[in-house]
Amino acid sequence: MTGTAFEFDVCILGTGRVGLPLGLSFVEAGVNAVGVDLDAQLRDAVNAGRMPFHEPGYDDLVASRRFVVHGTPEVCARSRALVITVGTPLHNHIETDLSQIQRVLEGLGPYLRPGQLVCLRSTVAPGTTHFVRRWIERNTERRVGQDLLLAFCPERIAEGKAYEELHSLPQIVGAEDDASRDAAVALFSRLAPELMPTNYVTAELVKLFNNIARYVHFALANQFALVADTFGANIYEIRRLANHKYPRNTLAMPGLTAGTCLRKDFGMINEWSPYPDMLLSAWKMNEYIPAFLVEHLRKRTSIHGRRVALLGYSFKADTDDIRDSLAPKLYRYIERQLPLDIFVTDHHLPDPIPDPANGKVKNWSVEEALAQAECVFVATNHSNYGEVLRNLARRSPGAWIADIWNCGGIDQIFYQAGALVAADREVN
Ligand SMILES: NC(=O)c1ccc[n+]([C@@H]2O[C@H](COP(=O)([O-])OP(=O)(O)OC[C@H]3O[C@@H](n4cnc5c(N)ncnc54)[C@H](O)[C@@H]3O)[C@@H](O)[C@H]2O)c1
Repeated sequence: MTGTAFEFDVCILGTGRVGLPLGLSFVEAGVNAVGVDLDAQLRDAVNAGRMPFHEPGYDDLVASRRFVVHGTPEVCARSRALVITVGTPLHNHIETDLSQIQRVLEGLGPYLRPGQLVCLRSTVAPGTTHFVRRWIERNTERRVGQDLLLAFCPERIAEGKAYEELHSLPQIVGAEDDASRDAAVALFSRLAPELMPTNYVTAELVKLFNNIARYVHFALANQFALVADTFGANIYEIRRLANHKYPRNTLAMPGLTAGTCLRKDFGMINEWSPYPDMLLSAWKMNEYIPAFLVEHLRKRTSIHGRRVALLGYSFKADTDDIRDSLAPKLYRYIERQLPLDIFVTDHHLPDPIPDPANGKVKNWSVEEALAQAECVFVATNHSNYGEVLRNLARRSPGAWIADIWNCGGIDQIFYQAGALVAADREVN
């Protein structure tokens, strides 16, 4: 393979929630990394030394300004490895949306140089790395395994844990020729403790199966919560008893299971199946929880004409990411009950919350949101919500709470705030 001298070791294409932490961790590991992203606001933040979103561990690294993000892909020609970390959503159908991958390939095509490694890292449907290979060989003069290297190296971090997990998770490396495999292993061995080579499609499926197994695990927890409710039993007590020193499985917590990865990744497999299957059932189960919360609180108290607070809007605890959160859906179901007001509060998010589905949502302070609340839905399990609910209990003991995450810690999904004070008194 022809050798070329490169100014950068790696260029990250798409410096979002996955690409930016990766680029910064490379920089920290002494890899000369650079980025490209279409989002001007994101670039301005990073190039000014600020994280554009919350991801613990990276504030000092980004402030050092050693990782620069460009707006156009010319810098690719000067980079030995090109790592693609753009978004891979679903269309409104059960169909993978490949447009960001296609666009990034069109952008970097003219800058592909002999000897470079193209490394796909976005989560993709099985067969996508083969598609990338065919795209490159049809649209450029490069041939994979001859004068260009290609690998699929999936990202398996959980949001909020990137800094630690980039150094602790084994790295799967999908490659189909020795040179590509060696180059990808050499790049990621700068971060990962263990490298696990395989072929493209196996690597694609490992990533999808990891995520889908988690989604189904939570769907089962949600189904168990509904079954327990049907029988008047307590899911939290059941879970505690079932998990205590039992070596063969653990029951997950019920909750509003969603988020940009969990909620879409099952579709990347499902689009290849014409049959109803377990994954569609898991999807349905998790998607039903907002309706369950509204319906079951409504059996206990009227929501119509009441002041309602919605605690949390992001898709999981202590993050500022609302992509594919179920909180906006819960908001709409509450709205259908015609309450007097809905006060949304999430201290991890800006005011207003830029929600593509519900428009700009006013983000109240938690004090304002709870000041007159008669019903409270806990949509996200942010870590301070136990204390927030106790403050509410002291002021408004009659307020009704729907707390599927058990933030109040009293093992009930639906209760009046005063129950928290009573439970605390019992403990003390
Ligand atoms: N967020 C996670 O925790 C996580 C974890 C593992 C895997 N993944 C997967 O990683 C991929 C990226 O996810 P994300 O959360 O970082 O998405 P993201 O939307 O935060 O980041 C993608 C970035 O790519 C940029 N982009 C899009 N097209 C571009 C182009 N042509 N050129 C340059 N930049 C472009 C966007 O502006 C955006 O900043 C997805 O496939 C996702 O499923 C995400």
